[in-house]
Amino acid sequence: MDNRIIVNADCGKQKISKHIYGHFAEHLGRCIYEGIWVGEDSPISNTRGIRNDVVKALKKLKMPNLRWPGGCFADTYHWKDGIGDRRKRPSIVNIHWGSTTENNHFGTHEFYDLCQMLDTEPYICGNVGSGTVQEMAEWLEYLTMPGKSPMSDLRRKNGREEPWPLTYWGVGNENWGCGGNMRPQYYADEFRRYATYCRNFSGKKLYKVACGHTEEWNEILMREAHRFMDGLSVHYYTVPGPWQKKGSATEFSAEDWFITLKRAGEIEDFIKRTEAIMDRHDPKKRIGIIMDEWGTWFDVEPGTNPGFLYQQNTMRDALVAGLSFNIFNAHAERMHMANIAQTINVLQAMILTEGAKILLTPTYHVFEMYRVHQDATLLPSHAEVATYEMNNEKIPQVSASASKAGDGTINLSLCNLHHEKEAELSCDIRGAKISGIKGRILAAGSMNALNTFEKPNAVKPSGFDDFKINRDKITVKLPARSVAVLEIK
Ligand code: AHR
Repeated sequence: MDNRIIVNADCGKQKISKHIYGHFAEHLGRCIYEGIWVGEDSPISNTRGIRNDVVKALKKLKMPNLRWPGGCFADTYHWKDGIGDRRKRPSIVNIHWGSTTENNHFGTHEFYDLCQMLDTEPYICGNVGSGTVQEMAEWLEYLTMPGKSPMSDLRRKNGREEPWPLTYWGVGNENWGCGGNMRPQYYADEFRRYATYCRNFSGKKLYKVACGHTEEWNEILMREAHRFMDGLSVHYYTVPGPWQKKGSATEFSAEDWFITLKRAGEIEDFIKRTEAIMDRHDPKKRIGIIMDEWGTWFDVEPGTNPGFLYQQNTMRDALVAGLSFNIFNAHAERMHMANIAQTINVLQAMILTEGAKILLTPTYHVFEMYRVHQDATLLPSHAEVATYEMNNEKIPQVSASASKAGDGTINLSLCNLHHEKEAELSCDIRGAKISGIKGRILAAGSMNALNTFEKPNAVKPSGFDDFKINRDKITVKLPARSVAVLEIK
């Protein structure tokens, strides 16, 4: 058999942080406005202005966290514009994304209302690019100060007595680019200055995230500021073509399919290179990688605003998601968090909306199937798999990851990346006594299979039983272009 996966079921110490399965929702295009926030007077069913259908769908994903308000938007956002009586909030122009005017109706209180509805942790990105140290310090005071202070009094005046929970805090976003075009030495100093005033008002330690970038940038930042940070933010987008012509999200060839998955898999080299730099300055591995933007980036859907980054989502995106998660799990020691870009209506989204209509994308289904890995113990695995070749380039045909849940269940996630060939695998689950397996699979008849508002259920998971058990060995037949999860008891 060409493909062999060995899982050491009685070993494993490393927990896979649930935060690897995190999200990102920016004030960009139709993500926040329309996708999440429709306002209390909308005919679309909502609770205090937030869409009920979207909340219901996202709750199924067990979302561990939500990053907000950006992205590039974060470094233009002045939080005081988004509090108090909505009718009196000033409008702003979203300079990075389509130069649209926003009314600021979705601000701090509405964001926390959303987090509470989703039972998810906030991860807020503060403004370094165009803000001030005082503005950031005051936002933290507003959010987390339990006692009496100017900002906690303002929060109470706006209807919130208790401080909100907050752990994850980003000190700027892409400060090498949209967040101020800084140089690494300068940002390292700015990070140290801002971080000094990010106080732990609640008594609970904030997890401060510094903005990373290239190897050169990360080297300087880690050297100069590692003592002040808990996480290093890095971004990795899967873009199959040159930036000016990334390619269609839905109309693509087998070559495009292959190159997209090759690029997606290269995230592992990027993680390894980042880890090597971190290991030099933080050998005890205290600081985590925060991959707070990742996913596919294709040309926008024809006829849509180029500044809105609205793209459809196919089986190709599902395979990118499954492959990326298998890689993130394998690096769980350093990977403290990852946030897909973005949750709704932007880039590799879980949900697309059109007025009152909603659809769940193939990527949504992978997030739902992979929930089982959240906070589970990573099982050391080894894969010897066939090569998938095209135009003299090669990638492994199969990707796998295994973890053990608190109740002893072993979950094995498998991706067959090949666009047309099935994969027969033999999986040795060493050290386990298998009594039964339940399988689920996401597969479709074509590479670019997708869900549309007319046919929202064309791609969805189904039961999977194309496997045989022989003591601690399982042989599995994975169809081409598929993502499967086996729940092994
Ligand atoms: O996710 C879209 C944009 O990509 C973000 O605003 C920015 O941080 C990145 O360049």
